[in-house]
Amino acid sequence: MPKDWEAAYKNGETPWDKGYASPPLAEYLTRAGVEGRVLVPGCGAGHDVRLLAGAGAEVLGLDIAPAALSQANAFAKAGNEAYLLGDFLNLPVGLHDGFDFVFEHTCLCALDPELRPAYVRSVVDALKPGGHLLAVFFNKVSNYSGGGPPHPIALSEIDDLFAEHFAFIERCVPQQTYPERPVGSEQLCLLQYPG
Ligand SMILES: C[S@@+](CC[C@H](N)C(=O)[O-])C[C@H]1O[C@@H](n2cnc3c(N)ncnc32)[C@H](O)[C@@H]1O
Repeated sequence: MPKDWEAAYKNGETPWDKGYASPPLAEYLTRAGVEGRVLVPGCGAGHDVRLLAGAGAEVLGLDIAPAALSQANAFAKAGNEAYLLGDFLNLPVGLHDGFDFVFEHTCLCALDPELRPAYVRSVVDALKPGGHLLAVFFNKVSNYSGGGPPHPIALSEIDDLFAEHFAFIERCVPQQTYPERPVGSEQLCLLQYPG
């Protein structure tokens, strides 16, 4: 049965929310830019959205749970950011071909693994030709027994899923992580959609 994200936010059962943005994203921004229009699917309370907006991007956070967006909207704006209620897997047509970047962090691992091809399709739909997917993939989840979310993604599956539509520009193991996610459990990838 799919997870009830709205209930999780309403009940305060959000262990993925550490109260601040993804450390691998913060690490990446110390050495490279994320510019233009950026889409953050599964943005939750918007910590990553605010980090990107504060760094100068025009950011849209998308989430399926109204309670998540209520939390996001309760924070002071960090820059040019907005939030939209919606299902990333049924991306509104008005968002197609609209983004220079999609930033992935804990959205893909929140989905049932059989939905991964649909996720890739939505990333392709969202990006302008030449646009980039910057992703912090969760490749190791401790004690995972198939009962996620989160559902980790094997490094080989990242290749299998994205290679058809994307060129891999960079991949590395981030050294800055949340304490609960040891170095090596996340993989940062920069991929380009040639169009
Ligand atoms: C594990 S949480 C991560 C939230 C946020 N990225 C963070 O790290 O705090 C997954 C998020 O994805 C959202 N979500 C799940 N399925 C979605 C979908 N199909 N479209 C948009 N958002 C979705 C959930 O509501 C939830 O906020």
